[in-house]
Amino acid sequence: MAIRTIRKDTDEILRKTARKVEKIDERIITLLEDMAETMRDAQGVGLAAPQVGVLRRVVVIDVGEGLIELINPIIVYESGEQMSEEGCLSIPGKSGVVKRPQKVIARAQNRKGETFEIVGEDLLAVALCHEIDHLNGILFTDKAITIKEQGRD
Ligand code: NI
Repeated sequence: MAIRTIRKDTDEILRKTARKVEKIDERIITLLEDMAETMRDAQGVGLAAPQVGVLRRVVVIDVGEGLIELINPIIVYESGEQMSEEGCLSIPGKSGVVKRPQKVIARAQNRKGETFEIVGEDLLAVALCHEIDHLNGILFTDKAITIKEQGRD
């Protein structure tokens, strides 16, 4: 496992659409493991592959309930709404309030290639939406109603 460099907000790779994973090979497994280590090292709750410079549809999330690995994730259901205070490892020093669904169901593949669904509410719903947005080149600052810079009001 290795810690990879997190790309920051001016890096144009963050604006590109990630490609679907067709075959879960050793490179994808290594990517998953490196992303988990990179996320933990940075004390984040989620990380998407474009953030480490890889344009593939791969996400890791840990909101404190254990590691979730998602390959080719899509949101298949959403309901309710919440105003979430978000930050992003690629946009240090900024946070913002984003309107998100209160509950989502995401469908993805695990590292064995098996399709599964995960129900996320509250913070997990936010993390799923935020990370899947990254796969489509969308950052939370695009959607934020207000943006705060650290040390400023
Ligand atoms: Ni982010």
